[in-house]
Parts: sequence; C-alpha cells; structure tokens
Amino acid sequence: MSSNKKVQELKKRRKEVQQGGGEKAIQKQVAMGKMTARERIIKLLDKGSFNEYDMFVEHEARDFGMDRKKLHGDGVITGTGTIGGRPVCIFAQDFTVAGGSLGFMHARKITKIMDHSLKMRMPLIGINDSGGARIQEGVNSLAGYGEIFFRNTLASGVIPQLSVILGPCAGGAVYSPALTDFVFVVDNISKMFITGPEVIKTVLGEDISMEELGGARVHSEITGNAHFFSESEDECFDQIKSLLSYLPWSNTDVPARKEIVDPLEEFNISEIVPADKRQPYDVRNVIRAVTDGSDFFEIQESWAANMVIGFGTMNGRTIGFVANQPLVLAGVLDVDSSDKAGRFIRYCDAFNIPIVTFVDLPGYLPGVDQEHAGVIRHGAKVLYAYSEATVPKITVIIRKAYGGGYIAMNSRHLRADFVFAWPDAEVAVMGPEGAANIIFRKEIAAAEDPDQMRAQKVQEYKEKFANPYVAAAKGYIDSVIEPWETRKSLLHALDVSGEKSVGMPMKKHGIPPF
Ligand code: HXC
Repeated sequence: MSSNKKVQELKKRRKEVQQGGGEKAIQKQVAMGKMTARERIIKLLDKGSFNEYDMFVEHEARDFGMDRKKLHGDGVITGTGTIGGRPVCIFAQDFTVAGGSLGFMHARKITKIMDHSLKMRMPLIGINDSGGARIQEGVNSLAGYGEIFFRNTLASGVIPQLSVILGPCAGGAVYSPALTDFVFVVDNISKMFITGPEVIKTVLGEDISMEELGGARVHSEITGNAHFFSESEDECFDQIKSLLSYLPWSNTDVPARKEIVDPLEEFNISEIVPADKRQPYDVRNVIRAVTDGSDFFEIQESWAANMVIGFGTMNGRTIGFVANQPLVLAGVLDVDSSDKAGRFIRYCDAFNIPIVTFVDLPGYLPGVDQEHAGVIRHGAKVLYAYSEATVPKITVIIRKAYGGGYIAMNSRHLRADFVFAWPDAEVAVMGPEGAANIIFRKEIAAAEDPDQMRAQKVQEYKEKFANPYVAAAKGYIDSVIEPWETRKSLLHALDVSGEKSVGMPMKKHGIPPF
C-alpha cells in the first residue's frame, strides 16, 4: 500500500468512528434536544483545540452477540483540548453507541484520560450520557466503574473535576459525578437516579416519571447533587467556562488573575442593608458591592438558599464567598445549608482560595425535623471545615451573630484571620427577646404589667449585648467598620494574608462528621 493509500485508510477509519452509532441513532439523539458527544466537545473546547485519544479502541466482549457488534470508540470520546487557552482533559459518553453504556474498554478509555489529567495536573471534564453498566459485559463493567470512582477520589483536592450530566446517568454511575467537585445539569435533558422508575414501580408500586425522580430541577432544588442548572447545553457550556475562569488548574497552581475594576455604583453598600433589623435584604448584593466589577458567580443557587456560596474576584484574585442569606429562613443554619457551606469551604481550602464570610443569622433552625435529620452532625461540618481551613479566612459581621451561628460562621475562635463588624452588629448568645424571656422570666411573671416589664428587660439586654463592642472589647472582633469601609478593609486583609502560613498537627487525615 502506498503511503497515500495508508493516509486514505486512516481518513476512512476516522470518518467511520466519527459517525458514532450511525444516522438513525444520531437522529434520535437530536430529536431528544441533545447534541452528539462530538458536537459537545467541539462546542465546549476552544476552536480547533481538541486532540482525540483512543479513537480506534475496540471492546473485547463476546457474549450475548457482542462478538458481532462494532461499537465505535466503544461509546466514549476522550482527549485533551483547551478552554480559555488553558489545557483540560475531557471525556464524553456517546449515547448513540450502545446507549453510551459503560463496558470494560469504555471504562479503560475514561480511566486513561483521568490518569493523564492527574499526572499532568489539569482539570477533568466528564460529559455523562449513558444507560449505565453495559449489561452484556457483566462484572467487567462494574470493575470499570470501581476504577473510575477510585481515581475520582485520588484526584479529589488535586485537580478540579467537573461532571456534566447531559442525558441519563443511571444506577451506580451516579457516584462518579457525586465524587467530583461540580455537577452541571440541563433542564429536560439530565436524569440522575440510583433506581429508575421501573424498579420503583416493581418494588414499591409507585408511578413516577424520570423527570420527577431525578430531573435537572430535582437535583438543583431538592437534593443538592447539582451545582449548576441551565436551560440549554449551550448555556451549560458557558457556565463551565465561567467556573473554570475562577479556578486554579491544580492545588499547587494559582488561578489566573483577572482585571481589577471597582464595584458597580448601583451596588451601594451603605444602602443595601435596611435600618430596621427585622427587614431582610439580599446578601448577594453585599458581596457584589465588594467584588471587582460586582462580579459574583453563585454556586447551588436554588438549593439551601438560606446560605449563599460562590466565587468573585477582589484585586483580580479569586475569592470564595460564604454568606447567610436573610431573604430565606432569615439566613439560619440547617442541615442542607451546613452541608453546602462545609463542602465549599473545604473546596476553597484544598485549592488555596481565600474565604470571605458575611454573617447575619439568628442561629441554627429549631425544630424536631431538623434535630431528627441530624442537624448536630451536619452543623458540625461547618465548624470542622472552617477550623481545618488554613487559607486566609476573613469575616464581616453585618447584623445578627447569635449563639452557635456566631461561632460557626468563621469566628475568631475557629481561627478567622480578620473579623470585622458593622456598627449594627449584635454578637450575643441569642436575640434580645428570647434572652429576656429566659433570664428575666420570674421578674416578668411577677410584674404588675408583664408586657411593660418584658419590654424594659429586652431593652436592658439590647443595651448591654446587642452591639459589636462587647466582642470587640475582648478582641474577638478586630475592627468595627462603617459599611463603606468594607471593600477597603477586605482588600487590606487579603493583601497582608498573601504569605499566610499556619501548621496543623501531624495526622494521616481528620475524621470530619460526614
Ligand atoms: C447495554 C444499553 C444499556 C445498558 C441502554 N442500552 N442501556 N446497552 N447496557 N446499560 C442500549 C439499548 O439496548 C439500545 O440499544 C440503546 O442503548 C439505546 O437505548 P434505549 O433504551 O433505546 O434508549 P432510551 O429509550 O432513550 O432509554 C434510555 C435508558 C434505557 C432510560 C437509559 O436505555 C435504560 O433504562 N437502560 C438501562 C439502564 C440501567 O438499568 N442500567 C444499568 C444500571 S446498573 P439498541 O441496540 O437497541 O440501539 C448500573 C450499575 C453500575 O449501572 C454500578 C456501579 C457501582
């Protein structure tokens, strides 16, 4: 064969593989409103940057007619490319080829690109669109999943791992996304569940659609499994690019610095928080009032919305923000918001991202439901995560910082590096009304006019404790600042924390309450 003929053969082979599962299967994919695996990769990566690996891998299964089946690429496309000019590793399961099911060689392709991403210290992006373990391959498919989960765990905290759910992600397959850092879902396209509707019907006799069971909204609003929700695959890819723009490429890298610009004038920090302390406000606007260009990239926006987490930049550097949200449940800590904050704090710490915390909360959410759902165990995650984090940790107390909530939200006692408080801050064991009712119960009951006595005692308690100065007198608060001084104070704190160095006791690892 002449060299030209060999090139022709290569072209022919490539073309065949690029056809995936064939025209009919592709049409079905398109009819479901989905892009093909190859289109997804091309759309997500910088133009012309994709280098495909293992295009000609073939499965070795022989049972159940598999010996007669040629599965192009074995149902998954893998390789490297760039996003924003920086290299990433990627795999995309191809649903048009045997439903993107995961056989042994399919898994080998994925684990090979995972090994590459860990070795070369670059992010891993996995696009999931699969019917799960390839049934014809039996335990070999399960072995493949196990190998993936093991690598997800090894890479955790070393390189960013992003999972994009663009189709079914069924059965044990869901555990790879669950082990990764960020999960992206798209409305009407993403479906994630351990046991599907058919199993539920058989075992429990209940009818439920895939969408109701594990659709994109379910995981964005109820379970918290997803971090980013979008209406379309295009929007999802934009979210991935935005997220990556804040992240370092590994735990030894620093994020690319962004342009330094002042916050927008529309976010006037002195006007965001109402004078009446019972009035709520959107704490995201406080964050926007201190970040460069008022930029705030929120994570898990619709789940546990009483806690706000996300990235922004200050002086061009990525900062992780954690804030109580007075708009939802008065910003209390509960089971879900504790999980949300705890995990994000650990993420920031693993990737050397400083954490700024805004505090305004009445404490932990009371109630039998919360107690029985394990608010003690879940709430402890926040304490653990802040205490363990060694990145720069800065706190701003806006209004209420009561009880356990005060301690948990990055107090001095958990080793905050800087604690600022606004003049309206109240640092106390509990709110004045509750406190007066308990400690002056006898006086109030014995008074001729109990209401008047209660009001008087509430006022006494407020005067004594409902301010930042008792905590400031002890040095628990470093500085009481006016709201407009917040960005300046934060920038200064961040500047002087650049070389922060603290030790932790030698240990293999701690035992966090998860
Ligand atoms: C082999 C599979 C497959 C699988 C789908 N296909 N899932 N082949 N193993 N797991 C094939 C179908 O036979 C079909 O092939 C093609 O993919 C497209 O599938 P359809 O069913 O036609 O597509 P659709 O109607 O869109 O339904 C998609 C689906 C459904 C909901 C995902 O295919 C399904 O329920 N699949 C099985 C899901 C499942 O139970 N997986 C195993 C989970 S257990 P042809 O040749 O007809 O085009 C598991 C354990 C992992 O994953 C444990 C790890 C710890």
